[in-house]
This record gives sequence, C-alpha cells and structure tokens, in this order.
Amino acid sequence: MNLFRNFKSVTKTCYGRGSFGKLDEILAPQRAANKGFMVFVVDDWFADKADFKKRIPVHEGDELFFISAKDEPKTSQIDALRDDVLGRKGLPAGIIGIGGGTMMDIAKAASLMFTNEGSSVQYQGLNLIKKPGIWHCAIPTISGTGAEVSMTAVLTGPVKKLGLKCDWTVCDQIVLDPDLIATVPQDQWFYTGMDTYIHSVEAITGTKKNTFAEAYSEKALEMCREVYLRRDRKDPKSDELLMVASYMGGLSLTYSEVGVCHALSYGLGKVLDIHHCIANCIAFDKLEDVYGEYVQEFKGMVKHNNVHIPQGLAKDWSEETIDAMAEVAYNLPHMWDHAFGPEWEKVLDRERIKGWYRRM
Ligand SMILES: [Fe+2]
Repeated sequence: MNLFRNFKSVTKTCYGRGSFGKLDEILAPQRAANKGFMVFVVDDWFADKADFKKRIPVHEGDELFFISAKDEPKTSQIDALRDDVLGRKGLPAGIIGIGGGTMMDIAKAASLMFTNEGSSVQYQGLNLIKKPGIWHCAIPTISGTGAEVSMTAVLTGPVKKLGLKCDWTVCDQIVLDPDLIATVPQDQWFYTGMDTYIHSVEAITGTKKNTFAEAYSEKALEMCREVYLRRDRKDPKSDELLMVASYMGGLSLTYSEVGVCHALSYGLGKVLDIHHCIANCIAFDKLEDVYGEYVQEFKGMVKHNNVHIPQGLAKDWSEETIDAMAEVAYNLPHMWDHAFGPEWEKVLDRERIKGWYRRM
C-alpha cells in the first residue's frame, strides 16, 4: 500500500438512544460565535411530525428550513440558501443537518459556502475551498451513506456531480441516536443501508485495500449481515447496528476507495437523477463478474427483506443515454485505479462500462 493520507476525523461524536435530546446542550457553547444564531436544515418528511419538531432545539432568532430530499443537493440550492441567510441575518454561529445524506451534505456544503465567496460550483473538487466554514453538525435520521463521517459534500452542479472535499468539510459534531431511524420506510431503510454494505465491499476488494480499511469494513459487513440477514427489522438492536455500520462503512473508505459500483452509480445519478443509494443497488445487483459472492449475499438480503430492486431499466434507455452514463463513469479514474489497478485502461474501456449498464 502506498496511500499516505492525513485524514481529519469528526471532532465530537455523541452516540446512544436519546442522544438527540442532548442537542440543545451541545449547541449552547457554540452559540456565541458570529451573529449567534443557528441554522437547522431538516428533511421535510418531519415537517408534519409534531412530536419530532418539538424536540428540535430552535431558539429565537434561529433559522429552521424544512427541505425536500427528493432531489440530491445542487450547487444552486446551496448558493441560494447561503445568500438568503447572509442577506437577511449575517453569518450564523453554526448549521445542523438533520436527515439522510442529502440533509447532512447540505449542512456540510453550506457551512463552507457561508465563508467562501462566489458559487459552490468553483469549489467542486479536492481541496479547492479556501477558508474554514462555520461550525457544523450532522444528525442522521436514516443510516448508510456515511455522510456523517465523510470529508466530502456531494453536489450536483451544471457540469459535474462532485463533492466539496477538504478537511473543513468534516463535521465538528455528529449525533448518532438510533431512535431516530426507527421509522424509516422499509425500502429506503434497505437501499440506504446497502450503501454502507457496498462501501465496505468496495473498500476491501481493490488495489488500495489495507489493514485500516479492512478493520472497519469487516466489522461493518458483519453488522450488515446481522441487520439484513439474521435479525428482524423490529428488533431494536437492528437500528443500533445499522447506525454504527454506516459510520464504520464510511470510515472504511478513509484509507481506501469506492469501486465499480459507485462509478456506475454516479452515471445513473448524473444522467437519470436516480438517487445514490437505489442507483447503487441497481448497479451492484448486476456486478457478479466483479464482486462475486458479495453480490450473491446482497441478493440474499434483498430476498430476506422482501424489497424490490428495479429490473429491466436498460430497455428504455437510448444509446445516447447509455453513452452519457458511460462517459460519467469512465471519468472517475481514481475508482477504476482502485478496482483494477494503475493499468486499468488495459482492462476497461467505455464498451465494458456500457455492457454493465445494458444489463440493468
Ligand atoms: Fe455511497
């Protein structure tokens, strides 16, 4: 392994059932910064959940936004949120994202854009951000993406679907409360959880695999097996396992890389707006030639949990659509390098990528 990264971790982690109830206390010392108010970005699924709304520690002067997670975060959306809040109230003390990967990434990206001038489009990539953002906190209410621990906030821009990736993207605080994921609809619960399963598989089945990645991956895989093959969804321990598996699966990537499934998934996301987690499932289901027994195991989990993975999609895709997705996927060399080694161009061309899409 020759992969020297110098990775920034989440500064503070509050874990446990009921830990969401600690949020007011956690925010208190942060409120002295800047103009002294907090911004909450919350999945609008909670907009009519009165019991949950009451528990969000909104103080006078704070800003609370309920945002739809129907679309994944866009550069224009982040810029507009930042301009609106800065224009009306000035610089917030902090921002808290409550929801899935979308809400957490919105909070992470907005945190950076509050202090970096211009459009977020110009910062899509690695280490392009110039200044640290404001204090930011992620609170997952659905588990699997690992957004709570990752150093990227994935945004879809006019040209690229690419993250704002730097040390300052990493959260200052996360709150992991397994009670919050108990009510997630079954399909979402499955697709999102599979993101961490696939992170873990990809992290340890490529040229950049190493002991650090394996330690987190193997534990996350074991926890996924508990959740999706052995336990009942209603077993409260399942939520605890899944929440920690998401965190571990995210960490498995810190010294490794995602692979073929994520590359194909980015094509599905960018060209057809298919959400990351379901796109992963659609792709992984057809990757037996690459991920062998893991794909078999995945199919077993699908069956055991009685969920549906969309099939036969490719028959409705034009050649142009398949070309466009293959182009997006092909242009992710770090993923191919990990999956097939530095000579990946010898074993992979656009035709092979298109072949995978045609199976979906
Ligand atoms: Fe992912």
